[in-house]
Amino acid sequence: MTEKTSLNDMQKLVSLSKRRGFVFQSSEIYGGINACWDYGPLGVELKHNIKSAWWNAMTRRPDIDGIDAAILMHPQVWKSSGHVDGFTDPLVDCKKCKARFRTDNEIYSKEKKCPSCGSTDLSEPRNFNLMFKTFMGPLEDAASVVYLRPETAQGIYVNYQNVQVTARRKIPFGIAQIGKAFRNEITPGNFIFRTREFEQMEMQYFVKPGTDEKWMSDWKERRMQWYLDHGFKKQNLQYHQHGEGELAHYAKAAFDIQYKFPFGWQELEGIHNRTDFDLGRHQQASKKNLEYFEEATKEKFIPYIIETSAGCDRSLLACMCDAYAEEVTQDEETKKEEVRVIMRFHPKLAPVKVAFLPLSKKEELSKPTQKLQEEFVEDMVTQYDESSSIGKRYRRQDEIGTPLCVTMDFESLNDKKVTVRHRDSMKQDRVDMSQLKEYIQKKLKNFNSEAGV
Ligand code: GAP
Repeated sequence: MTEKTSLNDMQKLVSLSKRRGFVFQSSEIYGGINACWDYGPLGVELKHNIKSAWWNAMTRRPDIDGIDAAILMHPQVWKSSGHVDGFTDPLVDCKKCKARFRTDNEIYSKEKKCPSCGSTDLSEPRNFNLMFKTFMGPLEDAASVVYLRPETAQGIYVNYQNVQVTARRKIPFGIAQIGKAFRNEITPGNFIFRTREFEQMEMQYFVKPGTDEKWMSDWKERRMQWYLDHGFKKQNLQYHQHGEGELAHYAKAAFDIQYKFPFGWQELEGIHNRTDFDLGRHQQASKKNLEYFEEATKEKFIPYIIETSAGCDRSLLACMCDAYAEEVTQDEETKKEEVRVIMRFHPKLAPVKVAFLPLSKKEELSKPTQKLQEEFVEDMVTQYDESSSIGKRYRRQDEIGTPLCVTMDFESLNDKKVTVRHRDSMKQDRVDMSQLKEYIQKKLKNFNSEAGV
């Protein structure tokens, strides 16, 4: 068996996603809406598994609590945070063809002409705010403008004292949140990489000033390890430190964890030292004292914040790119050479854990196979499939990344054993039905990304 290739063409992933039910274009029957995507039955399971893995890694620590804040917040939040004035991209309008583009567009920045029609009759660059606006209540006037949050972080900052007091936390402690964020991106694209509606998984860690650099380096390591622990390949991950010109308006220092997508190295997650910028600004504007009182030293201070900010959709895209492989192999049934597409998901993230496949559709086999499946449905996501040849059904499960397939044949009725087929090695084991659950749980738990399942 020879490994043919990993993912080199995003289009392959886009079409697999649609064919198998991971991701669909939003409002497709109306021609779709730009940069909005819907998750199908397998996509939503994969996304849920990513979110649970992140949530557990954060909140099963003794020093982090979770919250779920509203998407709509008091508009003053976004003035204080600097987003109303500073969350902008400079844009240029073409007076001839009406195209609108960013000033970092390759053609414009080199030749000062419209990238669409080539005209040089262009407006001066103007700052365009990326926040979506809407109106609260029946009046559509300036006083009722509210924003769809462009980051979940601010919902944590305005609740920092509520959590600290009610959960009786001492610094250092953290608050985690998963939720939707919205940005009116000028150049969305690359499938679900940059969209206008997306989900973030953010954790804000509140520390004593002076300890911030130590915590920054701690969280930087931990977040990288999280991706490695969930099967991401080491060679596809790297850090990128932000230079002076790249830093966001709130950050003293920032590192990105980057992933090597088929379209190049790109940000997967940001780890930021936001200092006391956000709490300081909220204290000033709200006139509420947001200082922390340290009992041991009798000191009062505004905590510094180390933020880990990951994109859920972007992690899902990276996870799919990383898992995708094509192999030239022999069909297990016909022995013909063919290319098999496999999604080598870590079993914790795989949308379906086990598929139950009777060798024949006959009731003699289909009934006991379904009965066997019933023993698993409460513990894990399973599938049952009796259509087409067994070779084709294995391929279908490979393509959606199911780690194990359980096949019942006529011999099973006598020896009470089933065949367990492994996604990565294609190895088959004959397992006693009474031992099957234990066997499967062990295989899923002992997964090793080098050897696979
Ligand atoms: N609270 C800090 C913050 O929002 P960011 O670097 O702007 O920082 C954090 O965003 C993460 O959110 C990014 O690393 C990315 O994974 C995700 N993200 C940001 N904009 C996105 C977009 N338009 N589409 C999909 N994911 C996005």
